[in-house]
Amino acid sequence: MSHKKKPEDLRSFRWFGPDNMRGFSHRSRMKQLGFRQEDFTGRPVIAIVNTWSEINPCHAHLRERAEAVKKGVWKAGGFPVEIPAFSVSETYAKPSPMLYRNLLSMDTEESLRSLPVDGAVLMGGCDKTTPGLLMGAISMDLPAIYLPAGPMLRGNWNGQPLGSGTDLWKFWTERCAGTITEDDWIGIENGIARSPGFCMTMGTAATMTAVAEALGFTLPGASSIPATDSNHVRMAINCGERAVEMVWDDWKPSDFLTLQSFENAIAVDMAIGGSTNAFIHLAALAGRCGLKLEMNTFDEIARRVPVVADIRPSGRFLMEDFFYAGGLRALMSEMKDLLHLDALTVNGATVGANLEGARVLNPEVIRPREKALVESGGTAVLYGNLCPDGAVIKTSAASPALLRHTGPAVVFKDYNDMDARINRDDLNVTADSVLVLQNAGPLGGPGMPEWGMLPIPKKLLPAGVRDMVRISDARMSGTAYGTCVLHVSPESFVGGPLALVREGDLISLDVEKRRLDLLVPDEELAARRAAWVKPAPKYARGYMALYAERVTQAHRGCDFDFLDQKLPTPEPEIH
Ligand code: FES
Repeated sequence: MSHKKKPEDLRSFRWFGPDNMRGFSHRSRMKQLGFRQEDFTGRPVIAIVNTWSEINPCHAHLRERAEAVKKGVWKAGGFPVEIPAFSVSETYAKPSPMLYRNLLSMDTEESLRSLPVDGAVLMGGCDKTTPGLLMGAISMDLPAIYLPAGPMLRGNWNGQPLGSGTDLWKFWTERCAGTITEDDWIGIENGIARSPGFCMTMGTAATMTAVAEALGFTLPGASSIPATDSNHVRMAINCGERAVEMVWDDWKPSDFLTLQSFENAIAVDMAIGGSTNAFIHLAALAGRCGLKLEMNTFDEIARRVPVVADIRPSGRFLMEDFFYAGGLRALMSEMKDLLHLDALTVNGATVGANLEGARVLNPEVIRPREKALVESGGTAVLYGNLCPDGAVIKTSAASPALLRHTGPAVVFKDYNDMDARINRDDLNVTADSVLVLQNAGPLGGPGMPEWGMLPIPKKLLPAGVRDMVRISDARMSGTAYGTCVLHVSPESFVGGPLALVREGDLISLDVEKRRLDLLVPDEELAARRAAWVKPAPKYARGYMALYAERVTQAHRGCDFDFLDQKLPTPEPEIH
């Protein structure tokens, strides 16, 4: 096979090749690590960017998996180096892991830029790590391949399968309603997460790893393999091997990521009933490629793509079932007419070629299109005087009866206000009310926390109320469900119209018309706007201050404005 690059063309050769004092220093330090000159000089140096951490259970196996990647790199004639990257744990990173996605992207980009590496295998999976790693790799634009951590095994309680997040919300509501016991609750806590791997519902992690595969950033089928399946180990070896080939062939993200790749990713996101978070992450990823994804593009694609993955929270099954049903390749093979089959991918082949031979093995889990879970429009983009720059609603996880609804607002000025009042007996709320949460957006949260599925007020639970229209500038966990309007842009903290909503105002939601409106006269809104006082910044120093100064709004992907573009950053000079 002829390669585009020769050993002396390798980026790492700039560090290890020259016969000068710096070259001596770089080589001698590799020898200090126990490597021979022929191990690392003139061979592709592959960074294994690993988001493993002992405080991130979704990535618990990635330390071990890095060794499998190394096997593949060595076998293909490369030199592997494992590099740690910020392990943004969805469970533990506070106040919101979303704050740190951009930091992980910078960590990835700058590690790759500053070190003597020629290519990368990126390892992540827990919600923010997929977009964070990919954003950094796109900006650096070295040959790079993504190895998703894979979903954990199904949860189990009393013989019932349990789904991450989805069953937590469901049983918490039942616990609040007094319909399950303390022992039941502990049993669920013990059984809901029982192996390494990311959340095994179609949450943000499973959505974003599927999106990564649809973009062409993984080897075919990689995103569906459960974390603990031995297929995952073999996939890791394959990724190591492929990364070395990519370096010789100079096959970079900019060579295969196009607008068509993004349209494929959006179509797949819709077909799997994916998390609304994908809207934000895809906008940010596209921005790093110098592409602009309009909110309307999401809506247009959603209107023609049916939701066929019968996976919680929209459906019944879990990611382990999805893998046994044929996984993402099987699902994509059923929607070939909705994809750009000539889009290229990380293995150098087209999407169409990568789908050859794929088939659905269980039509209950991956449904035929004529039996789709939702015919089209699993997620809708709304506009109106309450969200001039857009908002989203996951219709596949909402109550059909509430998709057209007008009701009086019950307004919470921030999360603490909601937490303090939502369960009070004197809350002025009925099942027809519209719950509004302000100051939960990119700056208001900060970090747009996943507060968008506001809890149903306790006083309504005995009457059987389990869903209501809820509106916020927050995000919602991909494992959550309900009639929740999210990502209202611009956010209330910067004076978006959501900041002007007052108790009792009528709000109208009409998903079919894609409208979200505050039914208050324009003059009254103008008066409220004139009286609105801009809140003081929440952080005066550190990363948070940088975040507050440079983060963009939800419809632009919440990236930093100085990263949201395709401008070359110079290679480091080696002195
Ligand atoms: Fe890591 Fe859900 S907590 S994917």
